[in-house]
Amino acid sequence: MNLMPLPRELRSGNGHTPVGRLETKGADTPRLAAAVGRFERRLASIAGGSPGGASARHRVRLDIVSGPASEHPALGDDERYRMDISAGRIRIEAPAEWGVLRALATLAQLVCRNGQAPCFPHCEIDDAPRFAWRGLMIDTVRHFISIGTLKRTLDVMEFYKLNVLHLHLSDDQGFRFLGDAYPELADPRDRYSGDELRALVRHASARGIRVVPELDVPGHTSSWLAAHPEWGLGEPVSAVSRRFGVHACCLDPDSREAMRAVATLFGELAQVFPDSHAHFGGDEVTLPVGRDARAVQAAINLRMADILHGLGKSPVAWDEVIQPDLSRSVVIQSWRGGGARNRALRGGFDTVHSAPYYLDLLYPADLHYAFDPATDAGADLTRDPRLAHVRAGVLALSRSWDLESGDVSGVGGGRVLGGEACLWTELVTDELLDTRLWSRMPAIAERFWSPAEVRNTGDMYRRLEATHETLGRLGVFDPAKGLRERLMQSGLSREDAAGLLPLLEMLEPVKWYARLLGGSRPVATGAERPYDADTPLDRVIDFIPPESLAARRVADLHDADRLRKVTDGWRSQREQVVRCSGHVIVDELASVSEALFDLAEQLDAHLCGREARVPDRALEPHGEYVLPVARHLAERFSRRVGCT
Ligand code: ACM
Repeated sequence: MNLMPLPRELRSGNGHTPVGRLETKGADTPRLAAAVGRFERRLASIAGGSPGGASARHRVRLDIVSGPASEHPALGDDERYRMDISAGRIRIEAPAEWGVLRALATLAQLVCRNGQAPCFPHCEIDDAPRFAWRGLMIDTVRHFISIGTLKRTLDVMEFYKLNVLHLHLSDDQGFRFLGDAYPELADPRDRYSGDELRALVRHASARGIRVVPELDVPGHTSSWLAAHPEWGLGEPVSAVSRRFGVHACCLDPDSREAMRAVATLFGELAQVFPDSHAHFGGDEVTLPVGRDARAVQAAINLRMADILHGLGKSPVAWDEVIQPDLSRSVVIQSWRGGGARNRALRGGFDTVHSAPYYLDLLYPADLHYAFDPATDAGADLTRDPRLAHVRAGVLALSRSWDLESGDVSGVGGGRVLGGEACLWTELVTDELLDTRLWSRMPAIAERFWSPAEVRNTGDMYRRLEATHETLGRLGVFDPAKGLRERLMQSGLSREDAAGLLPLLEMLEPVKWYARLLGGSRPVATGAERPYDADTPLDRVIDFIPPESLAARRVADLHDADRLRKVTDGWRSQREQVVRCSGHVIVDELASVSEALFDLAEQLDAHLCGREARVPDRALEPHGEYVLPVARHLAERFSRRVGCT
């Protein structure tokens, strides 16, 4: 079975029930009826056939027994369910409708093949989430993410039992919320109206997903100050920023106008987003040297907590806001390492942990998966050989976070509500979002839902590959297709594009912030940064998934004939790159293509029983590309692993 997340308890039975025409009883509310309709459409994509299985010969009874649920999901809702699949019959029981939604996600993932025919395996499942807050933050600012993409994302979130979409709606590069009181703040083109956001919330609620809005204050507010410079402190702002990185300006807590605007805007947001929580940001408040950014931050934190309490909301904010006199009703989103989570808990704050789940760092799935939201279990990023090329930066940043003062010890009593993955979009567009997200997010969703003991990395990857195939059938995740289309748009023929595949599937982008910072240094000024909000993201590096599962497959391959086929591809790609030279999209691949060719020579030598070694240059970045297979081969050669 390829479930992701794995359920709490699963007892396999004997036999299978063929997927067939569903006869559903008990889907008596609009939400459940719509959920069963979605399930049937999904089933048709996964199993083949038409929605509802109208053409199928078999009948399957689906009995749903469920308690009620409120109009919108809330933190701590009961999401438990029990499901029995026996001959021709599926029974779902749940204390509330939310559990039925989770059961239907499981059921769609259970479809397997018995011979050629799609079927449900007989089993009994008792399932419940480990964490109440299983979130995904999407930065809608650095690149605009359309409402259509957000709705599609909610559909897939439901499939992985995620239950919070956190929308980062304002930052230095834009302001996405079009309210009534300050329409001049909103981007003239790329913004969401109240009605669009209300429709998004309805879409989310139907899927048991909360939507938590964030306006980030007092830092990250250049876009506000472009319209109202009089609200600000620090560097003067004359236009909405296009550059990335921290900006040395912020809202002025002593400006009555600025604070009135903040209160009004959060009031307007409260009219749109029914959730109990609203996020006020609070990260990376920076002012020019000599000005006390911490004092500004401290003043505004208290005001923000009051404003949100006045609106009946529980505030959420990034971990910089921790201070002794802050209300313990503020939920801390810890992003600066495990230390930040522990500081929050010691200080008595409830916490949502995000530090290990930054999808924009382009890490492989297992690095995220190793970290537990609630404990210090995790991977040592400073020693992972896959991060050797960015070790200096990783170390410098984690040291600076560990030196962070602001401990509010002695209170205790804070709880870990759960985890939230973050997708910052400096290098992500609407078009690229699915690949960046779903390449690794299913593994993180498992960490947030499944029991802590579910930790087998090999099994996780087996199921991740399977779930990617399912997402391909659902039309959500097909990185090879996106890449092929991009190559052909650039003027390459279908054959040329296919000839490059043995290279492209071995590539990964450099890790951590190396793309954004132009290397492994921990900070870079605007002038040194290779990207800003206007840089086109249309290169091979943008379209490849962050992790090469094809490279992992090679690492696990020990059949000499099949390995020789792989090295044939690694040789032929070199000829293809040379044939396409002069083509702007291919030229930057010349050096990494040569390195892969060298690996083919070495692997062939190894297969013939000769001495082989991985050249240093294959282990190092080539511009923004790395070849993870080089490390696998280095290990294989050093262990002299044989072949069959
Ligand atoms: C953050 O990543 N600045 C919260």
